Amino acid sequence: MTQQNRRSFLSKLGLSAAALSLGLISKAEDRQFAATRKRKSKKEIFKGGLAVSTWNAGIPANEAAIKAMLNGGNAVDMAEQGVRLIEGELTHSTVGLSGFPDRDGFTTLDACIMAPSGRAGSVCFLEKIKHPVTVARWVMERTPHVMLVGEGAQKFALEQGMELLDFKSEDAVKAYKEWLIKSEYKPVINIENHDTIGMITQDSKGDIAGSCTTSGLAFKMRGRVGDSPIIGSGLYVDNLVGAATGSGLGETVLRACSAFLIVELMRNGAHPSEACEEAVKRVEKINSFMTDDFQVGFIAINKYGEHGAFSRYRGFNYAAHQNGKNILIDSEYLLK
Ligand code: GLY
Repeated sequence: MTQQNRRSFLSKLGLSAAALSLGLISKAEDRQFAATRKRKSKKEIFKGGLAVSTWNAGIPANEAAIKAMLNGGNAVDMAEQGVRLIEGELTHSTVGLSGFPDRDGFTTLDACIMAPSGRAGSVCFLEKIKHPVTVARWVMERTPHVMLVGEGAQKFALEQGMELLDFKSEDAVKAYKEWLIKSEYKPVINIENHDTIGMITQDSKGDIAGSCTTSGLAFKMRGRVGDSPIIGSGLYVDNLVGAATGSGLGETVLRACSAFLIVELMRNGAHPSEACEEAVKRVEKINSFMTDDFQVGFIAINKYGEHGAFSRYRGFNYAAHQNGKNILIDSEYLLK
């Protein structure tokens, strides 16, 4: 390959001239060369699709995503259908209307979705709506906006055909009653437990999308929004490079713009797991003033269908559905 062809080839992959001159693209370039050497067609590489998602609820979510693809859906359909299944189960304490409430006893939901085109939709502080991820998709596809919040998001959901659902799970009611006894505000979550479901999908054409949905931190202040619905923090997709999402204490992720950072690191050649590791280290550094303990975990995929993860503490895992297998993978972690 001549230097000029190489530059044009790499620029098609979205790799900048600055990255080229700094030699930051070598790993991405190596992988592309390796793929070329294997002479696999794009059709062969992506034919089974890829779905990765946080925690063990990711296993059924991935199944739903792959099923959506096999039924003719694209990466966005996969990302929506995957996490929508978990929202609809109404059994999870951190996703959907079964989620634990805020300090005032209300469950408020946050979700977002991002498409290969770069379009994105998001809802925050949404109440009594069963499928925030679908409302986020409608924001993306049916409005000129990226984010709708609270009453306005609910009004939009109802106008578009959702129904109000006044649902509380028995577990959430019980947990809230127990919490009220001391009413302690302790935002220590998810050291060895699951929260947010974040999902990244790659369809049989190789296009990438992502989604993220949560009821957020249990017993949060009313009005609190975490990282999950924030494009660039809880989720980011660049179809030329890859995508990232995560889970954990949203405030610590918001300060670090982690999903965007992970994608930029992959743009510059990092493997998804290397990029997630660097992002956890960045979270650690930016949040070094924190006295409360917390967990964060990130997952990422690149354009070549490689995936990886990294977390702050042991216990974070993610589900990966690829080549017909759907497995749970324990993440590497920082604080040993
Ligand atoms: N990562 C979910 C939240 O903090 O709301």
